[in-house]
Amino acid sequence: MARIIGGIGASHVPTIGVAYDKNRQDFPAWAPLFKGFEPAFNWLQEKKPDVLVFFYNDHLNAFFYDLYPTFAIGVAPSYGVADEGAGLRPLPMLPGHPEFARHIAESMINEEFDLSVFQDRPLDHGVFSPLPLLWPHNDGWPGAVVPIQVNVVQYPLPTAMRCYRLGQALRRAIESYPEDLSVVVVGTGGLSHQIHGERTGYNDTDWDMRFIDLIEKDPMVLAKMKHVDYIRLGGAESVEVIMWLAMRGALSDDIKKVHQNYYLATTTAMTVLVFEENDQTARNNAIVSQNPQLTGVEDIPGTYAFDIKTGTESIRLNRFFWNMKTPASRSEFEQDEAAACHKAGLTEQETALVRDRNWLGLIQYGANFFVLEKFARLVGKTNLEVYASMRGETFDQFLATRQVPDAR
Ligand code: FE2
Repeated sequence: MARIIGGIGASHVPTIGVAYDKNRQDFPAWAPLFKGFEPAFNWLQEKKPDVLVFFYNDHLNAFFYDLYPTFAIGVAPSYGVADEGAGLRPLPMLPGHPEFARHIAESMINEEFDLSVFQDRPLDHGVFSPLPLLWPHNDGWPGAVVPIQVNVVQYPLPTAMRCYRLGQALRRAIESYPEDLSVVVVGTGGLSHQIHGERTGYNDTDWDMRFIDLIEKDPMVLAKMKHVDYIRLGGAESVEVIMWLAMRGALSDDIKKVHQNYYLATTTAMTVLVFEENDQTARNNAIVSQNPQLTGVEDIPGTYAFDIKTGTESIRLNRFFWNMKTPASRSEFEQDEAAACHKAGLTEQETALVRDRNWLGLIQYGANFFVLEKFARLVGKTNLEVYASMRGETFDQFLATRQVPDAR
């Protein structure tokens, strides 16, 4: 069984990444910050968790206001670093854990936390500001990350209480995962800071100290606070500490704080806290062990429920069809089918399914019908003709089964 062995709260100030990349760890202005992360690094070296689940927010790097999810979980096999306007940081690709992430999504959605699911999105400083200070990575990262993105950039944000309960649901999801994984939950952001308007530069160390105390001993006080309370007490952008509540919600009441560092240099109170679970035994939380919504679907003939597993494993083929909504992609395919398939990186099997217009085979392989119909339009097939093909019937045979066979 998977188990949570502890939690970390960490600021994600982007300039930490800049200082890190420029090797300023020993500069007098930066040493208190970097030295302050070392015990957290050492704790992780000692505990060696397999997975870090990161509650973080994207700062309009991978998501934009055209579609900004309240909660979104990454289910990809790996993640790159987002280019935030100054080029890519020299960090290796970060492994994900698709199977574990899928299980978490299934479990949490079953508990009515309707997470969005993403694959092709890089992670920004919400993850990569603190991560290099927490994990070695010269030879690649020592474990996997499951990122859970939280909207803290466009109101209405999820409430602090919702984040706390999200963390509690995460714990139940983790404890129902059958594989023996040790997990640390990380919440990033804060503490006090404001970086817009005339109040820019606002800090309150007294409030930060109260927050640090409450997050350990009485998180429900923090969970009951409104966004405006966080803005008033800690500055506008400090409201992102609601992600610490998600982390805290995933921990039990039986924790001890094994490290704390607080350093306020310019505009943001940079903080790292490490909590260790006193009881790290695995327990089978069978209550939410499986999402029951599709139990038995395999017994319904001729039916292929499109799930996250299908979505991750067949993303290349689905993207190939999805791209056919652009004139350029359609034209490329019409000019040279084989070249278009090759350019899209399709396997031999996928290319053959496309070449043979094997509609049922494509569905069974993992194509979603709503992208497949774009391909059908391109090759001159109507949906009715595709339906007939999937049923193994001629067009006329299929129409004869309809209430109004002439409606074509
Ligand atoms: Fe932030």
